Amino acid sequence: HRDLLGLAGLAPHELLYLLDQAEPWVALNRQPHKRAEVLAGLTIINAFFENSTRTLLSFEIAGKRLGADVVNMHAATSSVKKGETLIDTALTLNAMRADAIVIRHASSGAVGLIADKVDCPVLNAGDGQHEHPTQGLLDALTIRGALRARGETGEPFAGLRVVICGDILHSRVARSNIHALTTLGADVRVCAPPALMPAEIEQLKVTPYHDFDAALAGADVVMMLRLQLERMQGQFVPSPREYRHLYGLTLERLARAAPGALVMHPGPMNRGIEIDSNVADHAAVSLITTQVEMGVAIRMACLDVLTRRARGVEGWA
Ligand code: CP
Repeated sequence: HRDLLGLAGLAPHELLYLLDQAEPWVALNRQPHKRAEVLAGLTIINAFFENSTRTLLSFEIAGKRLGADVVNMHAATSSVKKGETLIDTALTLNAMRADAIVIRHASSGAVGLIADKVDCPVLNAGDGQHEHPTQGLLDALTIRGALRARGETGEPFAGLRVVICGDILHSRVARSNIHALTTLGADVRVCAPPALMPAEIEQLKVTPYHDFDAALAGADVVMMLRLQLERMQGQFVPSPREYRHLYGLTLERLARAAPGALVMHPGPMNRGIEIDSNVADHAAVSLITTQVEMGVAIRMACLDVLTRRARGVEGWA
């Protein structure tokens, strides 16, 4: 079987295949009757060792809409609290004969470790600062859908100027988006305070900025990131007021981007710090709720595609 641990290394045709596989589910999810029996009889375990609203709920909804039995394991109420190791937890889930396991963990690489120990496909729902592949896919699907809805035809990502701004250092969302968008041909600029720009940025095909106004010039898409205060380990970060002044997306600042620029944020947001409410809630520019909607469809596609081999169905995996 094949896992989905990250978007690094996926070819353009593989990324586009997953986006295309989500399109029927976007349509289904807009119907009153949101049900297909594609995964009927399968058991999916969502094992979350770190908090989540969007990712956990959308994976649960995705599995249920496809007819699977879905169970959630929250580390906070599990035997992890009694000291059970990650590997023993993985072996326990495996013994229950899950058909797919979705895992979120605070440590980079923890999901890959579990994937080595279990017999079914593992989907990474976010591991530390490493990757959040379904977020990267749902963001690409959101961008493509918004450009198509405007009547733009042709290759949506080629030369698209995307700014990713904020706490790049701690952001698995930034890493998955960088891998997906650069692979698909976008011109990606990343912007962060010096303390929140990772050293490895030089190895990625992106242009780094510390000056947000310069990064914004002519941008087609502005993706804001949450300041992840819970992951700070002594980095110097500006106060919330200073941060908004230097790196917050305000309406005035958005005017520096290209006309019709689109605004994104993976959530949860720190309103009034990295993004102002009048930007986040601006119906003409903000794609934030569309991102959540696309999250359900992309997770339906990933669960479907990754379980195909076990179901004897032809496909990507
Ligand atoms: N975007 C995202 O991963 O949100 P949650 O942490 O709420 O799942």
